[in-house]
Amino acid sequence: MTAAPIPARVVSAVPLGPEQLDRLAEWEVIVVDFSRTPRPEVEAALSEAEGLLVNSHAPVDASLLEAASRLRIISTISVGYDHISVATTTSRGISVANAPVLSDAVADLTLGLMVMVARRLKEAVGDMNRGVWSDGLLGADLRGKTLLLVGFGRIGREVAARALACKMRVCAFDARADAPGMDGVEWVATLADGLHRADIVSLHVDLNPSTFHLIDDTTIALMKPSAIVVNTSRGGVIDQAALARALGEGRLGGAGLDVLETEPPAAGESLLAMANVVVLPHIGSATVETRNAMRDCAIDNLIACMRNEHCEHILSF
Ligand code: DGY
Repeated sequence: MTAAPIPARVVSAVPLGPEQLDRLAEWEVIVVDFSRTPRPEVEAALSEAEGLLVNSHAPVDASLLEAASRLRIISTISVGYDHISVATTTSRGISVANAPVLSDAVADLTLGLMVMVARRLKEAVGDMNRGVWSDGLLGADLRGKTLLLVGFGRIGREVAARALACKMRVCAFDARADAPGMDGVEWVATLADGLHRADIVSLHVDLNPSTFHLIDDTTIALMKPSAIVVNTSRGGVIDQAALARALGEGRLGGAGLDVLETEPPAAGESLLAMANVVVLPHIGSATVETRNAMRDCAIDNLIACMRNEHCEHILSF
């Protein structure tokens, strides 16, 4: 009698329900919470793994990957992949797939942040909560204002569609030469050109060495003193200390931030106390429907790669 073949192993850093475990039934699935499990145990689980399912709270650094000598695929339940050492995955030939199915949810929240800051909703809600009826609180219209989208991928395009519906002038900057355009959206030749013109600057780039601190003292100096900065991408795209200084000194009009350089922020983070700054706890994709879709997409990606089938969300670096 020949022994049954040992199924390949999949490690999941996220909890899985019966439905997800059922979908992965052809593999040995081990669920390991990276943040609560001693590192040697995480490494032991990974040592035999061919597939890894993570989200953006489960960092996959080079030393962790060293322990995962059999790994073929990392599937992340996020669109961002800055928590994964892509230099190592590339050199080791490990595939990385993301779940880019959150564009509408993030674009909705981006528009929400623009409205919140432009219409001074933080002050209005704060006053209401203190029993103060501030009906003279004047904000700014979105209509007729110029929005610069920095990064014109899936999310940037959804933000453009919403901004055009709000009768904004929309321009876009994208460092990728092949980024497709959109009717009604004007390309700006350089980031500096866009920053000069914009009333609102909204960031939709991924975080990598070329976008780290893209918004810093130098680029802030190019913006109008009334400009609003909105960030629903990654905190590291903005030099947060430079942003806080500019806001504190009246060199910028306001900011709407769903992401921060350090999440959660350190106690006493000055941005939180500013009336013209709205900070959210990284909830761009946090709707029931979108988070379910992201999880399902990431599991589809994992299954396709484990079976050596085509996976449309494999990233190339
Ligand atoms: C993403 O998918 O990258 C979101 O920011 C959640 O991490």
